[in-house]
Order: sequence, then structure tokens, then C-alpha cells
Amino acid sequence: RKVCIIGVPMDLGQTRRGVDMGPSAIRYAGLREKLEELNFDVKDHGNIYVSHYHELEESLKNLTAVTEVSKALAIMVDDVIQNGFFPLVLGGDHSIAIGTIAGVTKHYQNTGVIWYDAHGDLNTPKTSPSGNIHGMPLAVSMGLGHEQLTTIYERIPKIKAENIVIIGARSLDKGEKELIKEKNIKVYTMHEVDRLGMAAVITETIDYLKERVDGIHLSLDLDSLDPIDAPGVGTPVVGGLTYRESHLAMEMLAESGLIVSAEFVEVNPILDEKNKTAEAAVALIGSLFGEKLL
Ligand code: ARG
Ligand code: MN
Ligand code: MN
Ligand code: MN
Repeated sequence: RKVCIIGVPMDLGQTRRGVDMGPSAIRYAGLREKLEELNFDVKDHGNIYVSHYHELEESLKNLTAVTEVSKALAIMVDDVIQNGFFPLVLGGDHSIAIGTIAGVTKHYQNTGVIWYDAHGDLNTPKTSPSGNIHGMPLAVSMGLGHEQLTTIYERIPKIKAENIVIIGARSLDKGEKELIKEKNIKVYTMHEVDRLGMAAVITETIDYLKERVDGIHLSLDLDSLDPIDAPGVGTPVVGGLTYRESHLAMEMLAESGLIVSAEFVEVNPILDEKNKTAEAAVALIGSLFGEKLL
């Protein structure tokens, strides 16, 4: 039971400053101690280098720099898995999922992804309303979007549409809705979470994925949570998942034994209240790694 922490102080995938401090905030909220308490052999690789040169005039904002970081992260994640560790990646904005998924998918034939997020992050340069790459990583992983991003680590697509489950969606752009319909992507919006309850959502998600994939990557955007529980995010959306149902989700994913890698992204300490969002991230990570009260 070996875990390797990788920090990615990435803020180039969007325009609110501060999300580059996310990895520190999550570490200071007691991440290592939590994992050691749970008897994991913990290694911390420190942070991947992210430049502070913000080239906002590119139509895809900071494309060059995001590409460089994604490649470095892919190599790191690949290496960590090669050495028998579970990669736990700390963001940073959600554009880092491009690199994480590139590294993870090198080790599996059919990787599944659970995208736990208020957003779909399924935009392409054509559909993006913002030009922010953090709104695109899931599309990129499906092989859609700028070539420079989709071709990282060669395999295209990294993830098949039918191996994706989105949970917590409540803000989707027009092009994202069209893509979900076209590719028939499985999505549990807040409507389904309210209707079925989180226990059924996760049971269905696991049943759906377990017969088609050989490992599941969890990509958890803290803005999936309601802003009351996670105020420190750049793109908050009201009406979100609660702290409690998210713990249940993590506990059930832990029990499934199918999660092979995870990332916790979009924690922005500048916008947070006394590190509340980073603390929520650490608590959820605890549940994902098997923490139980009794
Ligand atoms: N859909 C919007 C966009 O493309 C917001 C994306 C928010 N993504 C995130 N990872 N927080 O810009
Ligand atoms: Mn910066
Ligand atoms: Mn989001
Ligand atoms: Mn996201």
C-alpha cells in the first residue's frame, strides 16, 4: 500500500490567481499525516515546475505552458505507477488532468474515469466560451481538441466515451451538452443525484464501469461540492454535492477496490475560508483511502 503525492501548482488553465497554491494548502491541511494514519507508505515527490509566464494573448490561453506541464506530469505519473505507487495528484486547476490521464492510461488497456465535478470540462477550442483549458481536459482525453494536447503520450483517445461517468454536473455549456448526447456519455447531474441518492449513483457507476474497464481514475474537482462546503474554488456553482454525500461516495469507491489513481483539483486558497476547502479535500482523500470511524 504505497501512495505517491505529486503537486501541480498549475494556474495557467484559467484566469483566477491563487489556485497554484492548492498543493501547499492541501499538504498543510494534514494530507501526509492522514495517509500515514491509514498505514500507507507515503512518498511526496514535491511539485512539478509550472512557469509564471502567463501568455494570455493565445486564443487557447497559455497553450504552450500547459502543454509543457502536462508532458512533465504524464512522465511523473507514469514513473510513479511503474514503481508500484498509487499516484495522488494535487492541483492546481483542472487542466492538469490532461497530464495525469496521459500517464495513467499508459498502464491500462481500458481506463475508466469518474469525473466528479460541477462542470463537464468537455469543451474544445471551438465550443469554449472562455478559452480556458481547465474547461477542456475531459474532451482532450477523449481525443478532441488541440492537437498539441491530444497527442501527448501518443495514444488517442486516452479514454473511450463509454468509459466515462460524470457525477455532480450542474453547469454545462451548449457544445458540452451536444457532445454528451453525440457520444452518449453517462452523466449523473444533480437531478439524478437528488432523485436516486448518492448510494445508488455510486453503485450504478461501479456496476457500469467494472465490466468495461481495467482500472478507474478519479478526477475530483472541489467545485463539485456546494460552495458552502468548498468556498475556495475559482468557478463555484450553487446547488452542489454535500460534504456528507461526497464522503459516502469516496467510501463506496474505496470499497470497490477499483480506483487506481486520483487527483484533487481547483483548491484556491485566496478564495477560501481558513483553508476549509483544502481540509475538505484531505477528509475526502481519507475516505477514498479507506478511513472509517469504526
Ligand atoms: N465551462 C466553463 C469553461 O469552459 C467553465 C469550466 C470550469 N472548469 C473547471 N475545471 N472548474 O470555461
Ligand atoms: Mn502563476
Ligand atoms: Mn468544475
Ligand atoms: Mn473541472
